[in-house]
Amino acid sequence: MNKSRATLALASLVASAALAQQPAPPAPAFAGPNLSPKGVAAMAANCAMCHGTQGRAAPGSRVAALAGRPADATVEAMKAFKEGKREASVMHQIAKGYSDAEIAAMATYFAAQAREGS
Ligand code: HEC
Repeated sequence: MNKSRATLALASLVASAALAQQPAPPAPAFAGPNLSPKGVAAMAANCAMCHGTQGRAAPGSRVAALAGRPADATVEAMKAFKEGKREASVMHQIAKGYSDAEIAAMATYFAAQAREGS
């Protein structure tokens, strides 16, 4: 190896070491939790497709309603899904997408929703 190639190799080694030492970039703003009332309502809207608007399952739906369900029960179910302890078709993946704080906030939101109404 001649001198200039050796210098180049050294330079790229230093550069890659510097890259490896860089801290992870901060999470994008949209990935941060938004636990304001509107933020929680928006997050809970992700569940509406299957569990009904504001957790009120459509009549005859085979997916359980979440409205009026005690918050503890929703938290427990989500924890069991997240940990793979409860059998599920889709809820394992969905539960993994939310932090414990987000799940608690959504559970509280759903518990406060009337079971009936529009
Ligand atoms: C794609 C449809 C779909 C979406 C979206 C969805 N769920 Fe589910 N959910 C299901 C199904 C289906 C089940 C039954 C378990 C299974 O097969 O995964 C279920 C079960 C549950 C249960 C247990 C109900 C019971 O009777 O014990 C809870 C709690 C729950 N979901 C919460 C949520 C929350 C909170 C969200 C939003 C963050 C959500 N789900 C989004 C389809 C969905």
